[in-house]
Amino acid sequence: MLDHQHQRRLDDLFDAMKAANESFLGYPFAKGFSYESLWRFMRFSGNNFGDPFGPETYRVSSRLLECEVIEFFAGVFRASPSQIWGYITNGGTEGNTYGLYLGRELYPNAVAYFSRDTHYSVSKAVRLLRLEHVLVQATPSGEIAYEDLAQRAIRSRDRPAIVVANIGTTMKEGKDDIKKIRRALHNVGVEEVYIHSDAALCGPYAPFQSPRTPFDFLDGADSIMLSGHKFFGAPIPCGVVLARKQHVQRVLRTANCNGSFDTTLSGSRSAYTPILLWYAIRSLGKEGIKRMFEQCEGLAAYTVDELKARDVKAWRNPSALTVVLPPVKESLRTKWQIVTQDVSHLVVTPGTTKEQIDALVEAMTNR
Ligand SMILES: Cc1ncc(COP(=O)(O)O)c(C=O)c1O
Repeated sequence: MLDHQHQRRLDDLFDAMKAANESFLGYPFAKGFSYESLWRFMRFSGNNFGDPFGPETYRVSSRLLECEVIEFFAGVFRASPSQIWGYITNGGTEGNTYGLYLGRELYPNAVAYFSRDTHYSVSKAVRLLRLEHVLVQATPSGEIAYEDLAQRAIRSRDRPAIVVANIGTTMKEGKDDIKKIRRALHNVGVEEVYIHSDAALCGPYAPFQSPRTPFDFLDGADSIMLSGHKFFGAPIPCGVVLARKQHVQRVLRTANCNGSFDTTLSGSRSAYTPILLWYAIRSLGKEGIKRMFEQCEGLAAYTVDELKARDVKAWRNPSALTVVLPPVKESLRTKWQIVTQDVSHLVVTPGTTKEQIDALVEAMTNR
């Protein structure tokens, strides 16, 4: 039992988080999701440690549902579940690190390439993995510059390449085309190529975008990561990483003390986030995800139209949910929690309302 003073602190924190949750537009996190029916699971010492597909003695886990989530996304990313292995991570950073780890184990002598617009988790991962890396130019839309990639790869044409393709950059939702990446490298004689698709935000809806940018297993990706707490939304950060089975077999170590295979980066892993993601995909299905994306896209288009009508140079990439803005003033950054680098942005995620957009547009344009 908490005493009155500490109870009060919790209540104050709840009120502050609730208010903040109602006024953020700058982060790609869904709002308004409802997982109340899953709260009963919170009374167990759930833990999915080890390989979700391998043997395990600890049974207070949700590994069966975790495997279903992996199989679902294998299908969404156009691979047969029998070809793909994966697990639910603590978030996007772990997924990117894992993909790069598999690439390095396949090609220990590789050079890693990624564009300047890539999320900082990738530079952290290459430092951790001691992978030599080269930064590639990005175009104003946030897409990797294929010609620059080719020019830089020429210098190491006798070495394999590991490329992180952005399937939605953090600031502009720019997309790299993995077929063009392979072609650019092939043209300069680099044939041994591992591609990791960072689809943190866009993973769930990228298959439904038009035009569709090549990014998935059928297009030639070796591993793909998406975040669970972004488009679907989750009270606990989480992500999904998937990879071709043959790459994972290379890192598989013999069964550890729990009787499981040691294939994952973390040992103990949440049993709750797989239940949340399973609940999201089973209640939505592919059709529901597509519908949710289309609603967001409609609101993103509306946002750009409204701002342009008021002479604000807002834009977005084709069918993107991220609206790129000229840097907004400090008071708006604070109120709407808007990330600003050379540009500002807002992200229309599920749960974003027209009223919120109208309020921001109004605040940006009233003089
Ligand atoms: C494109 C991209 N990749 C990776 C990440 C890292 O994800 P996380 O914060 O879940 O570790 C982010 C986070 O915003 C992102 O935008």
